[in-house]
Amino acid sequence: MQVIIYDDAQQVAQSAAVWVKTLIQQKPDTVLGLATGSTPISLYKELVDEHKKGNLSFANVKSFNLDEYHQIEETNPQSYRSFMKQHLFDHVDIDQSNTYLPTCAIGENPRAQGLAYEEKIKQAGGIDLQILGIGANGHIGFNEPTSSLVSRTRIKTLTEQTITDNSRLFSADEEQPTMAMTMGIGTIMDSRYVLLMATGKNKAKAVLDTVAGPLSAMCPASVLQMHENAVILLDKEAASELADHEYFQWTDEQNKKLNAEFGLFHNF
Ligand code: PGA
Repeated sequence: MQVIIYDDAQQVAQSAAVWVKTLIQQKPDTVLGLATGSTPISLYKELVDEHKKGNLSFANVKSFNLDEYHQIEETNPQSYRSFMKQHLFDHVDIDQSNTYLPTCAIGENPRAQGLAYEEKIKQAGGIDLQILGIGANGHIGFNEPTSSLVSRTRIKTLTEQTITDNSRLFSADEEQPTMAMTMGIGTIMDSRYVLLMATGKNKAKAVLDTVAGPLSAMCPASVLQMHENAVILLDKEAASELADHEYFQWTDEQNKKLNAEFGLFHNF
């Protein structure tokens, strides 16, 4: 696990953008795993800017999102499809028929939809780089605490905390979904690289449990301790409960030297 601590959220986004851009330049047909939520918005802005400057093309990229609300219309402004269009897809040259979300429409069987999503990821050759946010309760995707650490794409009931955390995004007259389809923790763990972004004080405890806590289904992100290539990008606030900042800074400096000589990604 590589933990990198930045001064602020903007630097976290810029760093995440360098990882994504470097990979796409190295492997133009990258399969990206994408996340929604407040945290990755500034990453997507950086990527859109890079694309507009002519430095980055998504023409051959495929993408798989972590999650989508159950039985939500694609065109609903609250759908994660709408979110991705608003923040990324409509502003870059990605072929939107190569962008996938784990949908489950009314009348569709969530179990069959989960299996079909897994199959699509497999057919694409697996996810090269998965972007993750983290919930204040340690969830990744919508894998809430007590989720099986080897779970696959499936339907999940959201916790009270997640529903409350997300209620800020819904107006009084909008019905807030309580169930979602999500990649499983096993699905996420199959990605070749994982880039988890966390910013703000309210993530500090979840970050501590992820990096230094016991491996536990009570903090689903702690499973990343078992991932070969997990990179955790934090601002100072999200890192505020971690000890050993100096150690993380020291290893980052060493890694930067190695990366300058041998590249950021070693297995593409
Ligand atoms: P946030 O959500 O980026 O909106 O904080 C992260 C998550 O719940 O995974």
